[in-house]
Amino acid sequence: MRIFKIICVVFLTATLFASCANEKKKTPKTDVEIVLDQSTTKLKKALKHLKSYDSLPRNIPNGKKHWKLVGVKDWCSGFWPGVLWYGYEHSGNDSIKIAAEKFTEAVKPIAYSSAEDHDIGFQIYCSFGNGYRLTGNESYKEVMLAAADTLATLYNPIVGAIQSWPSKTEIYPHNTIIDNMMNLELLFWAAKNGENKDLYNIAESHANITMKYIVRPDSAVYHLGEFNDKTGEFIKGHTHQGYADESMWARGQTWGIYGFALAYRETGRDDFLNTSIKLADHFLNRLPEDGIPYWDFDDPKIPNAPKDASAAAVAACGMLELANVLKDEKLKTKYTNAAKKFVKILSTEKYLSGKTNDALLLHSTGHHPKGTEIDVPIIYADYYFMEALTRLEKLESSQ
Ligand code: GLY
Repeated sequence: MRIFKIICVVFLTATLFASCANEKKKTPKTDVEIVLDQSTTKLKKALKHLKSYDSLPRNIPNGKKHWKLVGVKDWCSGFWPGVLWYGYEHSGNDSIKIAAEKFTEAVKPIAYSSAEDHDIGFQIYCSFGNGYRLTGNESYKEVMLAAADTLATLYNPIVGAIQSWPSKTEIYPHNTIIDNMMNLELLFWAAKNGENKDLYNIAESHANITMKYIVRPDSAVYHLGEFNDKTGEFIKGHTHQGYADESMWARGQTWGIYGFALAYRETGRDDFLNTSIKLADHFLNRLPEDGIPYWDFDDPKIPNAPKDASAAAVAACGMLELANVLKDEKLKTKYTNAAKKFVKILSTEKYLSGKTNDALLLHSTGHHPKGTEIDVPIIYADYYFMEALTRLEKLESSQ
């Protein structure tokens, strides 16, 4: 009888464990996981329409189904390999990894050419940076260190900032743009991982000058700060891709939110943290009711102006980084929730491209004043959307 009882207890315990394990397996997927699954499936389909590794997706013109491609010198060339790395991170799929490796490799010459502009940070950090983070491939590290040294050649010590667009020096002898804040991450990373420790000082000084002159008292940012290249004197703030010099160009504001959160993470300087918070609050306070910004908050045509989904995706990443570096629990929750809301809205039928075309997101605006890339899918919207989803997936699995 006793033996029978022991057998029963062992049997029941084993059954209980087995059913618990099954329960775990059956946990329904979260919305974030579902969108990541769908996105990864779409990446595989999009890959079928790409023929050559040195022609990379940039945008999908209205009415077209497949990506319009650009060469490796285009400022957007690093985003597609980055999208693939995020797809691989989520799925572990080998074919996506192989494609990510090949497209990444194609961008490599940029690191060793003379620096055309600050975009070398986007080009190399989004491609090689993600590849290195996920694979630890030492050859990627070499490319990133070379790219950081190349970017640093654009630093003007008199101004204390990087010349963002050398091609525009006839108009603005020294120009530093808000987007450039994003590319300090490459310099900070290289200062920690390589021999050139000056890169840290360059990045910190650049962030400092940007905070002082390009962040405006009204808590918005100029797109471009013009400086005297011989004296370092600040001359004037301009727009380039926004509606007007003093307007709030949506994506520019989000480069600032994200860039200053990164600058705080790397330096511990409270003024950088407070700048990111200030820009984030201003952005959130001025959002339209449906939660996705128009391309410029001050376009007089609003509500009949195009949206910019890319700005919402960058804002989501910037606010998740901000939440990541903040210690105050209430603020952490505030910015995490704001980011979740952006991702939730972008994950609706209105913004997901579904069967419409090969992109993940619709409705981004690239260069409205020039009349290009208006209300279309653009690759950097997909990149930051994948980054935000990946960050949220990790956050969910850590809770
Ligand atoms: N100039 C980079 C951007 O369009 O945000």
